[in-house]
Amino acid sequence: MPDDRIDALRDQIESETIESEEEAETFRIQYLGRKQGKITKLFSQISEIPPEERPAFGKNVNALKSMAETKLEAALQTLKRDQSAGAADIDLTLPGRRDFRGTLHPLTQTLNEILRILRRLGFETYEGPEVESDWHNFTALNFPPDHPARDMQDTFFVKDAPDAEEGPAVLRTHTSPAQIRIMQAQEPPLRVAVPGRVYRNEAISYKSFCLFHQVELLYVDEGVSMAELKQTLFALARALFGEDVRLRFRPSYFPFTEPSAEVDVWGEKPDHPDGGEWMEILGCGMVHPNVFRSAGIDPERYTGYAVGMGVERMTMLRYGIDDIRTFYENDVRFLDQF
Ligand code: DAH
Repeated sequence: MPDDRIDALRDQIESETIESEEEAETFRIQYLGRKQGKITKLFSQISEIPPEERPAFGKNVNALKSMAETKLEAALQTLKRDQSAGAADIDLTLPGRRDFRGTLHPLTQTLNEILRILRRLGFETYEGPEVESDWHNFTALNFPPDHPARDMQDTFFVKDAPDAEEGPAVLRTHTSPAQIRIMQAQEPPLRVAVPGRVYRNEAISYKSFCLFHQVELLYVDEGVSMAELKQTLFALARALFGEDVRLRFRPSYFPFTEPSAEVDVWGEKPDHPDGGEWMEILGCGMVHPNVFRSAGIDPERYTGYAVGMGVERMTMLRYGIDDIRTFYENDVRFLDQF
């Protein structure tokens, strides 16, 4: 009978698994614990056994005890080895794992910055459609019917004009048609910025691409002057390119403004014989009375200025990028730098 108990306990001990320090401690208390340990208890039962069987019983329980101790010892050794092996896997001299995050495209960054500065100057943001009517893109902006910009060379025409009265649909060649839409929809005073893509059927080179981005500004109120236009543009340029930016205001011509001007920014170029060159970044001017008339605004009462700036050009100047095509190649080696 006592030997049956020893055998049962041996089976039980053999089937135990010890995989952590907590399990090892539970094992120790359960079998070898000084008071309640199952093996310890067997020892105390020796008095219930007939004297002649005692030596054999004692020997068997002792064997069981050392079997349990060996098992526990082996398990603890294994646990210790696993732990130090685990620690060896961690090389503290390795650089930390980098969190690979995407970045905003340099054009988006510049665009966001331009709009942020303009918001501070009081301009609200508005967006117009990329597929425009010929009327909004050209006619309403005072382009004469035979103007070369309407030429197939420059404009992408869209089949199936949505509105016959407004003429053929085109991919807008500039953001200026948004001026008309805003003035048709709202009464002055108006102060809006219109960011967006524009399209031109041009030969692709380092300085021109078939699509690019512009931000249009329109400010209409009573008594708006060219001086305000100039100061707004200077404030924008200083905020975007830094206080010591060099700007050039040049007389120009656009059908939808009178007078008109273009603004150049000096771009430093160490390899250039002159140390740099002027880069045109925008066209601007006072809104032509015919444009006000197209949009139903009284040109006797209101004056205003308009601006169309090139986001690619401004980004190239900001970062010293010399080929417009890099913006559209989605090459991570380029994009990663911003
Ligand atoms: N729309 C012109 C272009 O794409 C740029 C421009 C010039 C916009 C003068 C204007 C402006 O609002 O007043 O070349």
